[in-house]
Amino acid sequence: MTATDERPAMPRVFPAGFVWGTATAAYQIEGAVDTDGRGPSIWDTFCRVPGAVARGESGEFACDHYHRWQEDVDLMKDLGAGAYRFSVAWPRVLPDGRGPVNRRGLDFYRRLVDALREGGIEPYVTLYHWDLPQALEDRGGWRVRGTAERFADYAEVMYEALGESVSNWITLNEPYCSSIVGYGEGRHAPGAKEGEGALAAAHHLLLGHGLAVTRLREMARPGQQIGVTLNMSPTVPVTSSPQDLQAARRMDLLVNRQFTEPLFGGAYAADMAETFGRISDLSFRRDGDLEIIGRPVDFLGVNYYYRLHVEAAPYDEPDPARRTAFDLGVRTVTPEHARTSGLGWVVEPEGLYETLVGLTSRYPDLPPVYITENGYGDDGALEDDGRIDYLRDHLAATRDAMEAGADVRGYFCWSLMDNFEWARGYSARFGIVHVDYDTQVRTPKASFHWMRDFITDPVVTAPVTARPATTAPVDILVAGTPRGERPVGD
Ligand code: FCB
Repeated sequence: MTATDERPAMPRVFPAGFVWGTATAAYQIEGAVDTDGRGPSIWDTFCRVPGAVARGESGEFACDHYHRWQEDVDLMKDLGAGAYRFSVAWPRVLPDGRGPVNRRGLDFYRRLVDALREGGIEPYVTLYHWDLPQALEDRGGWRVRGTAERFADYAEVMYEALGESVSNWITLNEPYCSSIVGYGEGRHAPGAKEGEGALAAAHHLLLGHGLAVTRLREMARPGQQIGVTLNMSPTVPVTSSPQDLQAARRMDLLVNRQFTEPLFGGAYAADMAETFGRISDLSFRRDGDLEIIGRPVDFLGVNYYYRLHVEAAPYDEPDPARRTAFDLGVRTVTPEHARTSGLGWVVEPEGLYETLVGLTSRYPDLPPVYITENGYGDDGALEDDGRIDYLRDHLAATRDAMEAGADVRGYFCWSLMDNFEWARGYSARFGIVHVDYDTQVRTPKASFHWMRDFITDPVVTAPVTARPATTAPVDILVAGTPRGERPVGD
């Protein structure tokens, strides 16, 4: 039993108009990688690298959603969802990343959007969920500015095609993962292990976002919304020693503030040069970039899964297997007796509360927030009580954060169905619908039925969410530190 379980349970009612949906991403569900003129993406290439993905799996077939989309839309109707967040595969629309448009690729998304709208489901379109056209990677990928410009061109193509029917646009999904995990740690495509390259990728992703916002803004009609999705993980020092506090702050910069500060704080994070000085001189920044990156957006999408428990580690890790391009002198640990998911991820709904309340207090101009991903991974059991508990507790934390002042407008569960979970392949399952990959049969899990009842009557009864001050002194909740106040030990 955790401390949270011992708190009194109380019912919380979500307001009318709150958006309920599920989320997916193109490479994780579509399959059909060679169909109708789609070009290769960096994930097609990465999956062929021996050892890159568990069991050598790939998104080649995935959930075959490219052909079974109607059935998947029907599942969403059955769920009673009012919204669906999916991503467009850039190389399906622009096989070379630029140049001629592949009409057949666009038509797929047109059909999908039309079916969603007919079913009363509002599409939330993510333009980039990690599947960069390989042709652009061959020209330097996100390490180079040109890719940011190509991204804005692609955004324009998509708006021209779907702007009549799609009112909610998300530029990027989790630029932290596509830069640091993809270009720094090499765990994701394109599998690079670079320091400078990864920081440049992070910057150019942000720049691409800003350029796309500018382009979409010129075309958008009143009421249409443009946003960006970040993954947020509050960092918690394992002890209150100055060393661990500083380590947690470095990690917070890498994962969170590197992105939130220029997007919503009007400045690059002040500790960038000091923290990353060993890795890069940040000379890829140009005058005027910050202004482009910081163009106002209509919403922030927050993806939340877990907090990061961080301790200081020696710099210059001697073990080559543990060494990364990001030698920040930090190590993440799983706290003893932690509640964990089927994948061993730490389950801490209070981290979602901290994220939402922390962002609200840190950034006075923060736009409304949608939780664009939140979910639970396991081995795929149909009786998935662990997932139901996870969803319930995170929904409670969301409602508590709203009560404390966070302006949250919607919640998208990750994921509609089991899918290709990147480097983990197909064994990690996040769906509220089970997918049998041999037969492509979809079977709703217990969590699907729970979610359907919940959407009908969005009241959640769960233990009171642990407030930051009850889990740790507030001054060490680094991500939630109000602007201007420096955490202890910094
Ligand atoms: C997020 C990704 C999403 C999915 C979940 C489990 O980081 O955005 O595609 O893999 O994790």
